[in-house]
Amino acid sequence: VAPVIAIDGPSASGKGTVAARVAAALGWDYLDSGALYRLTALAAQKAGVAWDDEAGVAALAASLDVSFAEGEVCLAGEDVGDAIRSEDISGGASAVAALPAVREALLFRQRAFRVAPGLVADGRDMGSVVFPDARVKVFLTASAEVRAERRYKQLIEKGFSASLDKILQELRTRDERDSQRAVAPLQQNVDAQLLETSNLTIEQAVAQVLAWQQA
Ligand code: CDP
Repeated sequence: VAPVIAIDGPSASGKGTVAARVAAALGWDYLDSGALYRLTALAAQKAGVAWDDEAGVAALAASLDVSFAEGEVCLAGEDVGDAIRSEDISGGASAVAALPAVREALLFRQRAFRVAPGLVADGRDMGSVVFPDARVKVFLTASAEVRAERRYKQLIEKGFSASLDKILQELRTRDERDSQRAVAPLQQNVDAQLLETSNLTIEQAVAQVLAWQQA
């Protein structure tokens, strides 16, 4: 089977950026598992299925018509890259991700991304549930202040107005909710390497993951 590097961590830690760059450096595929939860929430909204309808949302998750090509995220042929990042869908993703039947339905879809020469997967439960035999498992984090600043900069760069205080507050609330979730809580796996990136550049974080991979 193809090797996997699993990168888990909290919201806005930069795990997606690091995972995508590690994948590019190795010439491996990249799986943004959060996008699958976001796509499921969007598909439910489009189909008029409530986010707490576990069986209904799970059925949609199992039959999701998605494609990830050249940085585009498509649902039924439509580019929904921006739509899945909205506040509304972020809330929906977090709601559907708490449903065990939805996680079960997405489990097989995520494993199908494991192809040669290798896969870098980022998410919440990549090392613990989806790819327990991953060659390298990383828990990538940063302080709440640093994560809030990173998200703030990202929003400003995109031309949105934002409040750093409000972002920090929301992150703390989200961390709290994520860590207490019954399924896939936010936690560091016992066998994951801790990568604390508060004082690291993206390049340094990428270099560290590549060093673990080559060790
Ligand atoms: O990084 P952030 O949490 O802001 O967003 P994301 O990674 O795109 O994840 C969207 C939602 O799906 C969040 O509520 C995650 O907790 C959830 N998720 C999950 O439960 N399991 C995964 N493997 C990936 C995301």
